[in-house]
Order: sequence, then C-alpha cells, then structure tokens
Amino acid sequence: MPSLVVIGAQWGDEGKGKIVHLIGKNSDYIVRYQGGNNAGHTVVFDGKHFVLHLLPSGILEPGKKCVLGNGLVIDPAAFKEEVEFFENRKIKVRGRLYVSLAAHVILPYHKYLDTLRETASKSGAIGTTRKGIGPAYSDKVGRTGIRVADYLEPELFQTLLDQNLKEKEPLLSQVKPIKQIRQEIMKDYRELRDFMEQFATDTTILLSNAIKKDQRMLFESAQGTMLDVDFGTYPYVTSSNPIAGGACSGAGVGPRYIDEVLGVIKAYTTRVGDGPFPTELNSAEGNYLQSKGQEFGATTGRRRRCGWFDALVVKHAFRINGIKRFALTKLDVLEGLDPIRICVGYKVGSKTLSNFPVSRTLQANSVPIYKNFRGFKGNLRELKDFSAFPLEARRFVKEIEKAVDAKCALVSMGKSREETLILDKDFPWLQ
Ligand code: IMP
Ligand code: MG
Repeated sequence: MPSLVVIGAQWGDEGKGKIVHLIGKNSDYIVRYQGGNNAGHTVVFDGKHFVLHLLPSGILEPGKKCVLGNGLVIDPAAFKEEVEFFENRKIKVRGRLYVSLAAHVILPYHKYLDTLRETASKSGAIGTTRKGIGPAYSDKVGRTGIRVADYLEPELFQTLLDQNLKEKEPLLSQVKPIKQIRQEIMKDYRELRDFMEQFATDTTILLSNAIKKDQRMLFESAQGTMLDVDFGTYPYVTSSNPIAGGACSGAGVGPRYIDEVLGVIKAYTTRVGDGPFPTELNSAEGNYLQSKGQEFGATTGRRRRCGWFDALVVKHAFRINGIKRFALTKLDVLEGLDPIRICVGYKVGSKTLSNFPVSRTLQANSVPIYKNFRGFKGNLRELKDFSAFPLEARRFVKEIEKAVDAKCALVSMGKSREETLILDKDFPWLQ
C-alpha cells in the first residue's frame, strides 16, 4: 500500500505539477485533498503545455484514477470547463475521475465576496486569486456551506441557496441585486448539477478499497506550506491545509496509510500575492529570476515576486511536513548570477533568528542573513548526469541539503519530464 504525499515547501509554484506528473506514471491513484481552482500546475505532456487548476496533474496520464477529495472547494462551472477542455483534446476523463460528495461547492456569490474583500480596503487585501476560495471555506467552517451531495439534491440546494443569499445580502447587494445573483446561479444549475453527478461519489470508500488492494496512492498538494492557513504567513495565506497532514483530513485517509512525504522546493523563492517575504529582491537580480524563470502566476498571470533561497522557510516547512527527501527545481535559472545566496538566519533589530517566526511583526521585519556562494556557468538543462554539473552548482545543492537537513532526491530543470535527474537511486517512487 505504498502512498506518497507531494507538497510544496515554499509559497507554492515550486514545480509540484511536473513532479507529480513524473511520479504519477507509477501510481494508480492521484488525489487532490485541498484548495480549488486557485491552483495553477503547469505540465508539459507530449510536447504541449497544459495548465491544470482543479484536476490532479495525473489526469494527463491515461488510465490513472484521479480523485478530488472532501477537502476541496469546487466551482461546478470551472469543473465542467476543465473536464471538457481535456476531453476536447482527446484525453478521456470520464470513468476515472471521482469527486467527493463531501467537498464544498463554490458559487458565484463566493467570488463576489472574495473580490469585495480584496477591494474594500487596500490594507485588508490578501492578493487572492478571486476564485471564491476563502468565502467558500468560511461557509464550510461556519456550517452554512453547500456540499456536492447537497448540490445534487435540487430542493435542498434551493433552500440552502436562499438561506445563504439572505444571510449575505447586506454585502452582496453592493455588487448586484440578490434576485439577479439567484437567477445567475439557477440559469446553469440543471446542466452543472447533471454534469457533476456523473463524477460524484463517496471517495473514502473508493480510496479505502484501493488501499486494501495495495494500489499506489499519490496525494498531490496545491499551493505551499507558507500558504497553509495554520502554518503559513497568516493572514496572507490560502484557506486550506496544503501540508501533508491535510491529506488525511482532506481525503479521508488515516495517517497510518501515508508512507512518505516528498517536499518540492525551488532553488530560489517566489510568491504571488501580498504578505511577508524576507528574501524578496527588488533589484536587477530579482528581475533576472523573474524573467529567466518565467515567473508569472499560472492562474492569474500576475508577476511572481522573486528572491533568494530561504533556508528558514524550508526548514519550517520540512519540520511541519516531516520531510527527509526533496525535489529541487529550477536550479538552471540561477545560472548567470554571481554570487548566489542562501538565507541562513534573520536579523530583527538586535536579535538574530534561526527559525521562521510565528509573529507577523517579526515576519514583516526580518532582514535576511546570507551565505554567499560562487555562481556557475553553462546550460545545466543539457546535462544528463549530475556529476557533470559545474562544481559550484553541485556545491549549492549540497549547501541546501545541509541548511535544511534533508536529502535531494531529484533535480528538475525545465518543464518537461525528461529534464529531471534522479540523485537518490533508492527513491522508490520512480520504480
Ligand atoms: P486564494 O487561495 O485565492 O484565497 O489566495 C490566497 C493567497 O494564496 C494569495 O496570495 C494567492 O496568490 C495565493 N495562492 C493561491 N493559490 C496559489 C497557487 O496555486 N500558487 C501560488 N499562490 C497561490
Ligand atoms: Mg502554481
């Protein structure tokens, strides 16, 4: 019953999509357990670029079973659109994609509320994707949410919809009349409901049967640990638990069935949206990373903020996720910079910190302490063997391993699966 959770150990966009796609070919099930269509996983398959927002990256691998667990918030319109996008490209989705009846639905009013919050006051903005994620999760924990199971029952759905619209009217009427929002939702309801019904099931039964049959399970996180609602840079976070522990609550699988957690980290750091980012570079070096790394949000198209590798961020993430092995992505992007740096501590006033702080005041005022290393030259993407890498590049990887106390199992460059080197031959998930 080997099962692996793949998580992002920075602020998302570490390159999980590619790693999941790579490992997914040896898995039977690929399961997403949190988030919604705020994610943006770029995968190259058959020479073509695909950006996945809601479906697991495993959907590109023919025949694999894919699951959207109870921990997700699902926009029925976005769901239909994404399934049809792949079906129109001859990728068969029906019959191997399962949606949890206990997942919550995102409706247009969640998106309106998301945008209202983002625009109401500059100081209150998070820089969200405006896909309605936060408001949908607020309803879930506030116990007014509408689950997929409820969405499928037309009478119950309308009752819950009216309760929600009434409750939210004071805010929503700033956008448009409630009657109009209701009409907007009901106009497509039948079609979206019938579409959703084909995929909806109690996924916990499916997963537990698969585990009993020793099927290989791959749990795919979206976003990253620094966007986790409990362990990230709160309140500048997403509203779910992208950490490995989220796989248990977000898929309904007991912790004893999780065998390993693989962390994915980028050789530098990026973040989309607002919030603290101690190693951010507002300089030519930052622009270099941004343009060479093509750092644009896959969902919103926003420029990603860029900075040096931050070992305090990654140590924090590895501690919370229990990570001993990681995949390192985009090392090739650092080529051309000299020196290259790793943040190994923060200075706040006269204090020195060696761990990422919980206090938002400390997070906002942390000044990085760097260790500098010589840069490297040459096109790493052309090299097929890690031992052929320039000494400086290999040393940088070793320094990261030392700084975060974990082993580098894979080095990934470029977007295609082929541009990946396996350093740890014992890594069982690729066999
Ligand atoms: P939300 O998830 O749309 O509520 O956005 C909350 C924060 O998480 C914002 O800073 C977003 O930019 C960020 N975020 C959400 N999804 C992703 C992602 O897939 N990659 C990177 N950042 C994300
Ligand atoms: Mg992304």
